[in-house]
Amino acid sequence: MSTNITPQHLEKIVPQAEDFLPLLGTDYVELYVGNAKQASYYYQTAWGFQLIAYAGLETGLKDRVSYVLRQDKITLVLTSPLQPDGDINNHINAHGDGVKVVALWVEDATKSYQETVKRGAESYMKPSIQEDEYGRVVFSGIHTYGETVHVFIERKNYTGVFLPGYKPVDKSYQTKTTGLKFIDHMVGNVGWNEMNKWCEFYAKVMGFAQLVSFDDKDISTEYTALMSKVMSNGNGRIKFPINEPAEGRKKSQIEEYIDFYNGAGVQHIALATDNIIETVSELQARGVEFLTIPASYYETVLERVGEIDEDLEPLKKLGILIDRDDEGYLLQIFTKPVLDRPTMFFEIIQRKGAQSFGKGNFKALFEAIEREQKERGTL
Ligand code: FE2
Repeated sequence: MSTNITPQHLEKIVPQAEDFLPLLGTDYVELYVGNAKQASYYYQTAWGFQLIAYAGLETGLKDRVSYVLRQDKITLVLTSPLQPDGDINNHINAHGDGVKVVALWVEDATKSYQETVKRGAESYMKPSIQEDEYGRVVFSGIHTYGETVHVFIERKNYTGVFLPGYKPVDKSYQTKTTGLKFIDHMVGNVGWNEMNKWCEFYAKVMGFAQLVSFDDKDISTEYTALMSKVMSNGNGRIKFPINEPAEGRKKSQIEEYIDFYNGAGVQHIALATDNIIETVSELQARGVEFLTIPASYYETVLERVGEIDEDLEPLKKLGILIDRDDEGYLLQIFTKPVLDRPTMFFEIIQRKGAQSFGKGNFKALFEAIEREQKERGTL
């Protein structure tokens, strides 16, 4: 098993955070989807993930099927139901395709469960052991916002490709990587006045600390607004911004999400690359759709961010945004929603020193989202 951690040079110690679990990194992200077989083809073909493991009828499962995809340190699991009833169907019925599990890699899944439940987490899965010829994995889990859950994975005594019960897939179909490296952060959208409650949950139950906070003055356009706080664990490997809608003249993107997702859930997954121009060129060539930014953004951007290593022209052509903080700069771009409902999307990010989240781009970004909302009749 590869170690799903942020590279050393990007690690940051967050002083107020208490790493009592401790969290070693993101282990995997599992989406419940209507058709895992075809979704897996999309992530392989368009995104350059590799299919590495499978579980389904052929491995003895009767009620569901899961495809495990990997690119560098990012592992996605796509799961679909095989029967008409049950939790997976109910999840898809309520939310459409979406993230069910944000699995966290821990040293000790039993202790992680005890420590978080003791601090008020609602149990999702008591510690349990699964074994196969490659060793044993200890699982446990707790609920977080909406119907999303965190599963703690202790895999120090396991050498298999993913988890017990999955068979490795050695397929001849291999697409070229798009250079995606690891999950930089994962954002949750929660309902009106719920941001603080969930930030407190991450602080109290998981020992996270708040890195930054943005209010509706930071994140508003003429029409819409939202608020956001970024929570991080102590070693900085897990960063969860939490958004809530704020009052504006029109319906914000967070409300649109909550309406279509039927509640709180994962809004976007930010994937890191070492070369955003190459990664985004490749993704666009393979049909991944991104939000477009008006050419006028690039007329003034360098006055705001100063000198950068890249030529502006390819950034402008691809629609990549730039922002700077005290520590350096970052390049980022956002896809359109990747599901039928206007819910989850991806961010591609390349950090060149900056540890922030692109505050300087919020206005241009939200105006781009409003143009999309207008098309959908949901602004
Ligand atoms: Fe983000």
